Order: sequence, then C-alpha cells, then structure tokens
Amino acid sequence: MKFEDDIRQKKGKEKIVVLTAYDYQIAKILDDGPIDLILVGDSLGMVFQGQNNTKQVTMRDMIYHTTAVARGAHHIPIIADMPVGSYHTPESAEENARLFLEAGAHGIKVEGNKPETIKGLADSGIPVMGHVGLLPQTAEVYKVQGKDPKEAERLLQDALEIDRSGVFTMVLECIPEKLAKRITENVNVPTIGIGAGKFCDGQVLVINDMLGLGNGFTPKFLKKYANLNKTIKKALEEFSHEVRIGAYPDNEHTYH
Ligand code: KIV
Repeated sequence: MKFEDDIRQKKGKEKIVVLTAYDYQIAKILDDGPIDLILVGDSLGMVFQGQNNTKQVTMRDMIYHTTAVARGAHHIPIIADMPVGSYHTPESAEENARLFLEAGAHGIKVEGNKPETIKGLADSGIPVMGHVGLLPQTAEVYKVQGKDPKEAERLLQDALEIDRSGVFTMVLECIPEKLAKRITENVNVPTIGIGAGKFCDGQVLVINDMLGLGNGFTPKFLKKYANLNKTIKKALEEFSHEVRIGAYPDNEHTYH
C-alpha cells in the first residue's frame, strides 16, 4: 500500500504520530521507533539556524536537511516542508517538489489554501500535506487563529478546499479545539494537530521542543517529554571538571 493511503485509512481508526527531524542522527532514532511520519519542517529556521521565524529558510537549506534525514530514515516516510517562495506558482511548486523527492523525501507540505498548486502536485503523483491555521511563513505574530466566528468559518472553508484539492493529510496549527474538531469531522483526510487539541486525527511536535532541547519556547500546547537541556548541561559540567582536575582522559580512554 502507498504510504499516503496508509495514512488516509487511519482516520477514525488510529491516531497518527508525526515528529520533525532535521539531521541524520535524530532521523535514525525516529526510524527505529513507533511514529508514522517524519516532517523535515522549515521550523529548522528557528531550532537549527537560530532565526526568529521560518521566513529566511531557503530551498538550499531544506534540501540539505532533507538529504541528511533521508540518510538516517529508511522505513518511516519523510515529508519535506516547502519553504517560502518555493511554491508561488504550480510550475515552480512541481519543480521544487521534485527536488525534494530526489533528496529522499516521499511527499511535501505546503502552507495555506493553494488549490491550484495542491491539485497540480497531487495530479502529478506527489503526496501533499496541507497546513491550516497559524501559517508561520506569512504570520506577523504567532497566536491562536480562528477564535472569532468569522475567522473560524474562513479556516473551515480553507480546510474544505485544501481537502478537495487532493492532500493526503493536513496540519492544523494553533486553533481552538472546537474548531479543530469541526474541521476534523468535515474533511475526508486525517488532520494532524499542533496546538489544536485532542480531537485531531494525529499530533505533530517539533522534536527539539518536545525533548526539552532549548528552553525559550514554551507555548501552552507544548509538553516536554524530556529535558535534554539539563542533561547536556550536566554532561558539560562533568567533562569540564574532569579535564580540569586531570581525570579525563584516564587509562581506559587512552591509546597505549
Ligand atoms: O515547520 C514545522 O516544523 C511545521 C510543524 C510545526 C507542523 O510546520
């Protein structure tokens, strides 16, 4: 079965688990585990490059990271995020999407309601993940979307059109739980929430955030499943101490 059909048929049956990855080693760990999809998100602009948003991320950056992830993941399908400016027209979208497939991705993600582009990609056989709600590539401020009824209705209509355009799944980012539930019940494909509550068909988190690597980003939806920041700091302290007192390298870690 094609991976995108496998994801589609989970709707209403089992929850879908998605995590981001940006490098070989994390991809290798994810590939051994129980998740359904790996997303090479353009969130790498923040967590990898130290930028304030995703707006500076280029095709070159995304291809570099997708290639690294593809070297580590051979079992879990990889979705690559198309960066700002790479899908202005259906033609450029297809050209750039093919570069991601060549780099080892199995599908791509585009933000927002772009029916022509999504349809063009899907008709060419390229699996497309949609993205509704907070759209970091165009957002001025990061805040919950669709709180007022008019905005909620617009987001529902966007989701319905994206669904009709041929995506195999769609991310719902930072929207109230009630709206996410309404969208999930009204689209045919599974919804993958991030800050969109428990009624979505699956959940995605940025791996650095859920592992507690970096401590500045603490939105309400984020649950930290580890505290790598603390673990790394502790290791640094131990290493520095042992070097300073001459305890490292000891006999065991020395060539004789
Ligand atoms: O860029 C990203 O990592 C994303 C996810 C947060 C959905 O778009």
